[in-house]
Amino acid sequence: MAIMPKEFATGFFRMSGRRGAEGPSRRAFVGSAVALAACQPAARGQPAGRSLPPLRAVAPFPVGSAIQAEQIDDPDLAALIAAQVSQVTPEWQMKMEYIVGEGGALRFDAPDRIASFAAAKGLRLHGHTLIWYAQTPAAFEALDSQPGPFRDAYANYITTVVGRYRGRAASWDVVNEAVAEDGAGLRDSLWSRRLGAIEHMRLAYELAHAADPVAILFLNDYNLEYLPAKRACFLRLAETLLKAGAPLGGLGTQTHVGLDLPAGAIAAGLSDLASLGLPLHISEMDVSTARFHRLFSSSAELAARQGAVYAEAAKAMAGLPAAQRYALTLWGLRDRDSWRVRENRADTPLLFDDLGRAKPALADFEAALSR
Ligand code: XIL
Repeated sequence: MAIMPKEFATGFFRMSGRRGAEGPSRRAFVGSAVALAACQPAARGQPAGRSLPPLRAVAPFPVGSAIQAEQIDDPDLAALIAAQVSQVTPEWQMKMEYIVGEGGALRFDAPDRIASFAAAKGLRLHGHTLIWYAQTPAAFEALDSQPGPFRDAYANYITTVVGRYRGRAASWDVVNEAVAEDGAGLRDSLWSRRLGAIEHMRLAYELAHAADPVAILFLNDYNLEYLPAKRACFLRLAETLLKAGAPLGGLGTQTHVGLDLPAGAIAAGLSDLASLGLPLHISEMDVSTARFHRLFSSSAELAARQGAVYAEAAKAMAGLPAAQRYALTLWGLRDRDSWRVRENRADTPLLFDDLGRAKPALADFEAALSR
């Protein structure tokens, strides 16, 4: 290893057991409160969907859920996850925001708990995420003017984190959200400024591959169904990385969408993304309702539209060649656990209600798979 400041060199391999609070969320949804009665199962009698089979039993592809370590302590939620899905993605506790502390100390308490839960329940673990423009810990920023040590710390981080979960994480989002919203190019970030726009990504894939040669390494981004120009840029980036020799193994499309999404946009997006022949991951799906009630004349209509968006995604994933169906991951199962709901309590973006009961959208998702 090349020389780096002493305290930093040790810091990046030091572990701490501190626990932290939930990090800040981005892209806040602003909306007024709406009562979405039709999205909730009947208060009396059989909860809607009690008789529905679990997602993992009906989908011809792995279905995933976001998870946080604290949720493992909620027996109802832990049971729901284990029953419904076959894969989990840490919602934020495998990000630099959680792992990297002051002075570069690393903490793995929460991600270790998630990895153990996944192993105990036979769930595939998807690591998320190594390099993200939005997360630049102070320990890295402090090295901003020292190219050698910066590169070493970057390499050490990737090698240490991927190496720790080698054989346990089946896949990783190596680079997250690298493409600019207008599709005109790549985002500027601490990583790109210090290590080069393409080179920091190529290097990240190379290092992750060396640390776990079996893990499938994804490039992940959002709004790819809303913005065809961004999608085209994302595909060009994937091709550039492949040409540069990066061991890129799959493409992730977050699919944080809302009820304003035009019908057909998810299917069109997925079919475009499939053109490179790589496995595809619908990696963080939720369908926000809170800002869109004015588009619908009744809550039943609104619920039907939410179901149609989920159904389109299920059908589009099922329609891919088997080798390209990596997984469809939901960014949570119960509405109350959603990051969207933390931002706007009126939102109802997921497939299960606050009590873990199936919503109409779950029935629509599953019905789409039997047609
Ligand atoms: C979000 C989590 O849901 C929040 O809990 C956290 O505070 C911020 O990140 N794109 C991503 C995810 O790739 O990591 C984000 O998750 C949502 C947007």
